Amino acid sequence: MPKPNQLHFGKVAVLMGGSSAEREISLKSGSAILTALKESNVHAEAIDVSIDVFEKLQAGKYERAFIALHGPLGEDGCIQGGLEVIGMPYSGSGVMASSICMNKLMTKQIWHGCGIPTPKYRILSDDLSEDELLVELGLPMIFKPVSQGSSIGMTKVNCKAEIASAWASALDFEEAVIAEQWIEGPEYTVAILGGIALPVIRLETPRTFYDYDAKYQSNDTQYHCPCGLSEELEQQIQTRALQAFDATEATGWGRVDVMLDKDNQPWFLEVNTVPGMTDQSLVPMAAKAKNISFNELVIKILQTSFKEDSETLANQFSSPVSGKCSAA
Ligand SMILES: Nc1ncnc2c1ncn2[C@@H]1O[C@H](COP(=O)(O)OP(=O)(O)OP(=O)(O)O)[C@@H](O)[C@H]1O
Ligand SMILES: [Mg+2]
Repeated sequence: MPKPNQLHFGKVAVLMGGSSAEREISLKSGSAILTALKESNVHAEAIDVSIDVFEKLQAGKYERAFIALHGPLGEDGCIQGGLEVIGMPYSGSGVMASSICMNKLMTKQIWHGCGIPTPKYRILSDDLSEDELLVELGLPMIFKPVSQGSSIGMTKVNCKAEIASAWASALDFEEAVIAEQWIEGPEYTVAILGGIALPVIRLETPRTFYDYDAKYQSNDTQYHCPCGLSEELEQQIQTRALQAFDATEATGWGRVDVMLDKDNQPWFLEVNTVPGMTDQSLVPMAAKAKNISFNELVIKILQTSFKEDSETLANQFSSPVSGKCSAA
């Protein structure tokens, strides 16, 4: 007799690896997810994504996909589009939201349209003079490639002399680069699961910002959950984070990054539609604070592949916080 989970999910492909700059992180997320699925008696196998992924999925008679890919081609709607074409259900956001959220510029434009606060920015181009940029955004600023993750290609700019090298570092990864106004203040992240916001985590690093090393290499990054905010302020941030998430049409699960300025005003940075899922990652940490184990979390994320089930997940939690985007 097959175990209940095998009946429910069928044969699951955990899509991991791929070719983005975040390949190594994705392999770690994917392995942790695969182990969790197996421990829950789900019939799951790993696929390291390459050009023949859709042939492998069809030849292997998989029934659904757990997307554990980070960065371009995996988190940005491309894989999602291919899965739509072959009619295979998959975890998390659909094509459009994946594509919007991978692109920080598009995300910010949408947020502007519906009143979600996000730091001021400019798209860098040869037509934009350094002086104009300084007048508009002031110092410091942060330069970002628009569609990378894990802080790849990002640099804080403290003075005019640093502009050229910061721009060049971002250009190493892609042509489209934005400069963003620097927010001075604490940084938080809000995990979203099935229509609710999980407890907020505060990130603290002695480094200039939460860069690649702070995320994956150094052991001096601190994570605070409970986050130390008043209950009221934490709930406000959760509600705003859900609005920010919904505004992009993201669904199922994800993570919204936000900073608070000295007046406790939130400034939303971005939405991650396939956040890290190693057992030290932030979404598992927030889930744990809600008594959801890593294995339970993985099953709940897999359940988001039944698109109609995603919303009902919210009902499984005691005090859901939810909110819809309203026009500015
Ligand atoms: N406007 C800003 N002001 C100050 N610090 C910022 C700003 N934007 C980004 N940062 C810092 O850079 C980090 C990475 O920024 P962001 O979340 O936009 O990029 P990312 O590379 O997509 O991150 P992720 O790994 O979460 O996908 C933030 O966690 C924060 O520490
Ligand atoms: Mg981020």
